[in-house]
Amino acid sequence: MEVISPENLLKSLQWRYATKAFDSEQQIPESIWSSLEDSLILTPSSFGLQPWHFFVITNPEIKAELLPHSWNQAQVTECSHFVVLAAQKNVGDVEISQLMDHTSTLRKVETATLDGYRKMMSGFMAQMNPEELLNWAKLQTYIALGQLMTSASVLGVDACPMEGFVSAEYDRILGLEEKGLSASVACALGYRSTADKYAELPKVRYEKSELISRL
Ligand SMILES: Cc1cc2nc3c(=O)[nH]c(=O)nc-3n(C[C@H](O)[C@H](O)[C@H](O)COP(=O)(O)O)c2cc1C
Repeated sequence: MEVISPENLLKSLQWRYATKAFDSEQQIPESIWSSLEDSLILTPSSFGLQPWHFFVITNPEIKAELLPHSWNQAQVTECSHFVVLAAQKNVGDVEISQLMDHTSTLRKVETATLDGYRKMMSGFMAQMNPEELLNWAKLQTYIALGQLMTSASVLGVDACPMEGFVSAEYDRILGLEEKGLSASVACALGYRSTADKYAELPKVRYEKSELISRL
């Protein structure tokens, strides 16, 4: 593996900002987009359960339908790819068995050898009510959001993370209820408009000394 230099990592992270205005003429090329999808898939999750589904929306009609339920934020329609990160609503024994089967196939081990792991996960899930389960799954989607944004910045793709939308309306438009999913957070991706004044603003961050304690 080739290691990126610390300078280049920080350059990418300084370059990224929550893009408010996208250049709607510029689309993310397929080869780059495909890597960003892979970065979503490679996101780690608690127990490896991957309690999510990612909807990649490029269809202008669907974007337009989502816009009024997104505080009318133009990023939704002007971006190249709009991603809705949806959380699974009722992660339980079915999903755990699915993961055990998949692990057994990929790692070539008997499912019986994973029984301890299965019981531990099952016990963890059993102590949560449906609301807590959904909240837990939503937390996992934020890890995917972070990974997506960082990956995008390294590839020179702009992004705007978005919580400013009505989840129930997204669920209705995307038919998530019947899929056992709920919209958690979203991310608009594409290329910044040269007119976006936010690109030039200094980053507002607290001092390192206030946020990090080395013990
Ligand atoms: C989870 C999350 C949700 C956000 N939702 C929105 C949003 O709906 N609309 C928006 O314009 N910015 C949104 N932001 C962007 C933040 O305001 C922005 O990241 C923050 O002010 C730091 O600025 P920077 O990302 O440009 O460094 C969101 C950021 C995060 C992490």
